[in-house]
Amino acid sequence: MDREPKHERPFCFCYAGGFHKQSQRILFISGHGNAGSRQLLCTLIVRVQERRLLILYGSQTGNAKEVAERVEQQAVRLHFTTELTFMDAYPKQKLPQESLVFFICSTTGQGDPPNNMKQFWRFLLRKDLPPNSLNNLSVAVFGLGDSGYPLYNAVARRFSQRLTDLGAQALCERGLGDDQHPKGYDGALDPWLAALWPKVD
Ligand SMILES: Cc1cc2nc3c(=O)[nH]c(=O)nc-3n(C[C@H](O)[C@H](O)[C@H](O)COP(=O)(O)O)c2cc1C
Repeated sequence: MDREPKHERPFCFCYAGGFHKQSQRILFISGHGNAGSRQLLCTLIVRVQERRLLILYGSQTGNAKEVAERVEQQAVRLHFTTELTFMDAYPKQKLPQESLVFFICSTTGQGDPPNNMKQFWRFLLRKDLPPNSLNNLSVAVFGLGDSGYPLYNAVARRFSQRLTDLGAQALCERGLGDDQHPKGYDGALDPWLAALWPKVD
């Protein structure tokens, strides 16, 4: 005896459940239906590629490092997978393989880069780097400086220009923190982050 009515569809519905927008993860896909006496139920766990954010900083006395750590905390809350390090500790040849990088750097001396980003800085300024070397990269730059100095935030300014010259896409206008601001560098950091997160979320 045929116990499977012909009008029944072999699969009645299928839905993706628990999609988490910020982490880009589909938590489950479920299908439930019947074909005659049979009932189908399947659950697939699908994990879409995680979002990686690299945060590189150059800091002489710790302020830029503190900012970088704060940015990382926010990124983790937004379900990014993060890597945080000072620039000279990062294997710079890998940079073209990254997709999303935030740079936080102060200016010291007379418009000079901090000691822990000097090698990276020199590498980035090499004239033999092809102009499209960073085509895959989306970047954001935040500088820390003091407008009392003649070369105010010189490193972040030159750095962001160089990244663009090498083909990187700037996600937003570079942020320039100023010690002279009544709120210190936070005066520029908070609006910079508020403009930045929606671009990557
Ligand atoms: C010795 C010294 C030199 C500095 N030179 C500059 C400068 O040339 N241009 C600038 O914008 N800020 C300059 N600053 C200000 C620093 O960039 C600012 O204090 C910043 O917050 C320091 O960040 P860091 O602790 O991450 O190095 C200088 C600060 C010091 C102590």
